[in-house]
Amino acid sequence: MQTYDCAVLGLGAMGRTHVAAYRESPWVRKIYGYEPDPERAAQLGRDLKLDDTTSDLDALLANPEIKLISIASINTAHAEQVERALEAGKAVICEKPMGETLADARRMVDAQERTGGFLQIGFELHYSELYRRTKQWIDAGLIGQVVNSHCRYYSSEFHKKNSWRSLSSGTLIGEKLSHYLDLQRWWTGSPVTDVYAMSAPNAVAYFNHPDNHQINMHFANDAIAQLNFVMHLGETDIGDPLQDYVAKQEDDGHALQYHIFGTEGAIETDVFRRRLRRWRFSDGAEQLVSEIVETVTYEQSEDAAWMHNTHGQNVHLAEVIGKGLPPELPVQDSFETMLCGFAAEQSGRERRLVAIDDIRP
Ligand SMILES: NC(=O)c1ccc[n+]([C@@H]2O[C@H](COP(=O)([O-])OP(=O)(O)OC[C@H]3O[C@@H](n4cnc5c(N)ncnc54)[C@H](O)[C@@H]3O)[C@@H](O)[C@H]2O)c1
Repeated sequence: MQTYDCAVLGLGAMGRTHVAAYRESPWVRKIYGYEPDPERAAQLGRDLKLDDTTSDLDALLANPEIKLISIASINTAHAEQVERALEAGKAVICEKPMGETLADARRMVDAQERTGGFLQIGFELHYSELYRRTKQWIDAGLIGQVVNSHCRYYSSEFHKKNSWRSLSSGTLIGEKLSHYLDLQRWWTGSPVTDVYAMSAPNAVAYFNHPDNHQINMHFANDAIAQLNFVMHLGETDIGDPLQDYVAKQEDDGHALQYHIFGTEGAIETDVFRRRLRRWRFSDGAEQLVSEIVETVTYEQSEDAAWMHNTHGQNVHLAEVIGKGLPPELPVQDSFETMLCGFAAEQSGRERRLVAIDDIRP
């Protein structure tokens, strides 16, 4: 077992999650941190008890002991940092989205193809049990062929005034909804051909981008998918540590739910009910019959592993990189999800259906 050092770029909320994962990994020796502002870098280095921090990215990239660069910086920094790290011969894990523009996303794919390096985008829901189990049920043929899926996501405002998120010219589609389009692509298992999306006027006046979306995807095998996002409905999270926030949000306006319909059954995932259910369709004497045949629930202590498993993803990928294995989610696949998001943005702006091949660079 050849252990190695790693560096986390961006030490905000998600950077902390990356640091915690590498601290748990037996493959990782030292953890370095990078922030562009030297004082912030030093302060966060002390807070997080990192081995060292710097504002000199060149120095980090020149360090031969560092094998993994893990990017949790703001979205506008992703493309350049991925490119520089790959060109320095590092393995790279980069948070979604793949930058803010189609050119950013393409630049990341090009850098990977040019260098042949390891690059995996943090679409961590592939590692979250709620969604993995769904994929396993689909692959086992339990709902037949997927023909339709709906995602209903009602949120509370979490981007905050004057933050890089609310001021970003990149949209919520890349920053937030790319995860959920990605799952619909994963489960349907067919290329997306066209996207039709609509964006309503902003509910949150201080956002620099639309905050209500309906996105429809059409797949090559004729399946369809819809995602419906409302930014500002669920009760604001007051952060009461005594409260089970998932249970609280079950009926306060929040929703994060999928229904996936197949030719022989259906699946429902429900984050705020901590529940996964499966229906079976069968042919009765008088009519088609639908019955719920499987229900899985989980505990509060399992929330992260079931619905938001960046930690588990990064612990696992540290091992994958240590063993010299290839990415489990090719960057070309993540790029297809980003293409759907950019097509949705364009469709919303231009009020027309956008064919994926028409925008593919
Ligand atoms: N996978 C997920 O579910 C998930 C969840 C949250 C955030 N994210 C992603 O993680 C990234 C960071 O989000 P966050 O919530 O930690 O934001 P954050 O605002 O908490 O942290 C961002 C950090 O990046 C630093 N930074 C700014 N410019 C930088 C640069 N050029 N290089 C390096 N660092 C820089 C900031 O100083 C800050 O410390 C975003 O890309 C976001 O989309 C993913």
